[in-house]
Amino acid sequence: MSDLRIKGRRRGKRVTIRVNGAPVAAYTGETLFAALLAAGIRTLRHSFNNPAKTARGGFCGMGVCQECRVTVDGLPDRRACMTEVREGMEVATDGR
Ligand code: FES
Repeated sequence: MSDLRIKGRRRGKRVTIRVNGAPVAAYTGETLFAALLAAGIRTLRHSFNNPAKTARGGFCGMGVCQECRVTVDGLPDRRACMTEVREGMEVATDGR
């Protein structure tokens, strides 16, 4: 899987989270939203109001827009941008 992080920056300890069952590298201190973006995962859910079911993803990155909601360890509607990663975290996008 790709890693879009800026090279050469100091980071926390490397951990592995699982997103829809697939392992994704992350670093302690990162938000889940940052880890997902770094892994190239931008679609976090699909619109339920729009008949076209358009793809939705994080917008503000600071807890306001609610567009980054995912399921974390079985808890639905967690804002990825307000959730810090930790080893073994299980993430499901799009209400999975
Ligand atoms: S990106 Fe806007 S609330 Fe998370």
